[in-house]
Amino acid sequence: MEKKNIDWGNLGFGYVQTDYRYVSDFKNGSWDEGKLTEDANVVINECAGVLQYAQTVFEGMKAYTTEDGRIVTFRPDLNAERMENSAKRLEMPVFPKDRFIQAVVDTVKANAAYVPPFGSGATLYIRPFEFGTNPVIGVKPADEYQFRVFTTPVGPYFKGGVKPLTIRVTDFDRAAPNGTGHIKAGLNYAMSMHAIVDAHNQGYDENMYLDAATRTKVEETGGANFLFVTKDGKVVTPKSDSILPSITRRSLIYVAQHYLGLEAEEREIPFEEVKDFAECGLCGTAAVISPVGKIVDHGKEICFPTGMTEMGPVTKKLYETLTGIQMGRIEAPEGWLQVIE
Ligand code: PLP
Ligand code: COI
Repeated sequence: MEKKNIDWGNLGFGYVQTDYRYVSDFKNGSWDEGKLTEDANVVINECAGVLQYAQTVFEGMKAYTTEDGRIVTFRPDLNAERMENSAKRLEMPVFPKDRFIQAVVDTVKANAAYVPPFGSGATLYIRPFEFGTNPVIGVKPADEYQFRVFTTPVGPYFKGGVKPLTIRVTDFDRAAPNGTGHIKAGLNYAMSMHAIVDAHNQGYDENMYLDAATRTKVEETGGANFLFVTKDGKVVTPKSDSILPSITRRSLIYVAQHYLGLEAEEREIPFEEVKDFAECGLCGTAAVISPVGKIVDHGKEICFPTGMTEMGPVTKKLYETLTGIQMGRIEAPEGWLQVIE
């Protein structure tokens, strides 16, 4: 299969339309058989549930070309399970897990010409999503839904690739206790738009959100979880019911413990403790692991000893091991890679 003529090395994190996407409709209580289509547009009623009351959930995952030329995706079962939780929380019908995985496989296979070559620094981002399509004007769930999967080739999420980021502590909240922070709903991202635009206008790369109830504990950023390394080399990540359960973070904890022999734990992290950490990074499908050099709390700077030019040594080992597994250079734990072709 011939690859598309794309300058893979210079891709940013943007939308490039690819040839095929998967679509399935939910009507009269069941999903139809679904199909691949070349039509990238969605035509829905002006009063559709998604347009009026933001009834939409999504996932983010990637396809990689391995060193030996296979196309694989990473732990799609966990994305399917998370999307199931997201859909249930917004009273949306669940797209079954086996069909979710098959839809991802079929969409990636159909767009194989857009999967960036091994070593190019780019990957194929996969976006499964579901939204309410029929008119609803009273506040209630829609009766009809569409599930889609599209793909787009992407480069690094943050400009500058792996240059350490500067993050500010924001006064805005992203998620409420008992709210929707733990699911991947479009509404959480709408919540964060003003905060991210404001952060960028002030020269910061992202926001650190604190817990909304006490504003004393580290939550996450708008699009990634935090990961810290203590001075004695232990990996710690925030535990909270209002952050997204990152698949990358869960995988990194396993990698730290089982591949690198490090101690790793998920626990509440008081913001007060952040100044004592040796390394900090953001982790997620889009962010992979992006090092953080500095956190600014209302003018007070926390500068990590790893500085503003390099990834910290533990962060780097985690990055290399995780991406090694994803690209097939390092043997993956059983069931982590789904081979597409
Ligand atoms: N947190 C938020 C708010 C996100 O949007 C994402 C991206 O999916 C993550 C964390 C990272 O999750 P994952 O590693 O599953 O991509
Ligand atoms: C992802 O990492 O897949 C996300 O959905 C994050 C998003 C902000 C691009």
